Amino acid sequence: MNATQPKYKINELDIRPHGQSRELPVLPRSESTSEFMPLEEKEVEYFFASDASAVIEHTNRVIYLEDDDVAAVRDGTLSIHRLKKSLDDPHAREITTLKMEIQQIMKGNYDYFMQKEIFEQPDSVVNTMRGRVRFDGNAIVLGGIKDYIPEIKRCRRLMLIGCGTSYHSAVATRQLLEELTELPVMVELASDFLDRNTPIFRDDVCFFISQSGETADTLMALRYCKQRGALIVGITNTVGSSICRESHCGVHINAGPEIGVASTKAYTSQFISLVMFALVMSEDRLSLQQRRLEILQALSKLADQIRDVLQLDSKVQELAKDLYQHKSLLIMGRGYNFATCLEGALKVKELTYMHSEGIMAGELKHGPLALVDDSMPVLMIVLRDPVYVKCMNALQQVTSRKGCPIIICEEGDEETKAFSSRHLEIPRTVDCLQGILTVIPMQLLSYHIAVLRGCDVDCPRNLAKSVTVE
Ligand code: F6R
Repeated sequence: MNATQPKYKINELDIRPHGQSRELPVLPRSESTSEFMPLEEKEVEYFFASDASAVIEHTNRVIYLEDDDVAAVRDGTLSIHRLKKSLDDPHAREITTLKMEIQQIMKGNYDYFMQKEIFEQPDSVVNTMRGRVRFDGNAIVLGGIKDYIPEIKRCRRLMLIGCGTSYHSAVATRQLLEELTELPVMVELASDFLDRNTPIFRDDVCFFISQSGETADTLMALRYCKQRGALIVGITNTVGSSICRESHCGVHINAGPEIGVASTKAYTSQFISLVMFALVMSEDRLSLQQRRLEILQALSKLADQIRDVLQLDSKVQELAKDLYQHKSLLIMGRGYNFATCLEGALKVKELTYMHSEGIMAGELKHGPLALVDDSMPVLMIVLRDPVYVKCMNALQQVTSRKGCPIIICEEGDEETKAFSSRHLEIPRTVDCLQGILTVIPMQLLSYHIAVLRGCDVDCPRNLAKSVTVE
């Protein structure tokens, strides 16, 4: 990647037509090597990074390397080599001019990128829906997959595959997908899916969910399914990423660049993308129209409700002060909020290095209840939805073991609040979107605990933003 605007002398010049976002001539590679040299005697700087957003403050011109490319700079000349020749290789690497705005990757008034990205969610969820959801006509169009909808409707099953947070967005939306598509929906961790050599058929539709679009396990799982003839749908935040390019069709979640290693706004945008897909699939089902309407109306209010939840920040910070010196945090819930428990626990682990576990409340009596006593920090999500009574039952099991949980409940729910002095109230929304509002306090909580523990919020130890190794 270069900082100035040099012209290049190119080995065996081969200027090809190029697309809108690809403004510069294609830089060809002769055989297995190509060299890019500035023509003029201008100083050139090259930056190497695993993600373009890391260098945007220096240059907006980047060359994306392919698998097995080896790039080297010697005596001011960049050369790209291939480990082995391959027939299907395009024999060219292009310079791409990024459309990213510098403000998008600056922290602004925030202390950390993660904090900024949490607070961007009222806007990022709107960007995910922009141009796709028409609230006046109750219509949804997902341009990237619309031609494939008839084929998807005929499929044997839907498979949602991803890692970490992206996997949790699949867990969060599975129930709604089952309800609105009336298809079997399997949710898979990419690594485990591959370990099991899971049977895949031509009439399967496989969704690959990935913020970066480069996660090695997810990409390997994609190739595995593609070889077996399944339809491949990419759900990514990174235009031009490997998962994007190798999918038959897909949805860009349009959350904007996510720089903090811990994924936040990408999660809520993945969640909404999958909800929109479920709404598209049920468009012509008369019996589901009332439900669709209810969800669409809730989507139209979501940005304002997220703003309301973000107002809880200082209250969450106070809770973090109570928790940050503890060794562990158990997060319990069920139904539509189980994914929030998993995602909240993942955020706590990766940012604070504290132990945390997301527990399906229905499993409490099968083991985890033994962990509960008056010193174990517990957080429970208890909302007025179809599993409310069961959640209250779990809450009582915890309090009768002297547990004193922090409760996330609905605004004004005095009956639930009475079980604990520490609670966070979130606005009421339709059951299947609650997970968006309940995950935000968890993002804030993990953020504040990490700050209090002196952890590097944006770059947790041992982790990388794009996990390109298996
Ligand atoms: C956690 C987190 C990771 C990623 C996972 C998959 O905050 O960011 O768990 O979600 O590594 O990454 P993507 O979504 O890029 O495939």
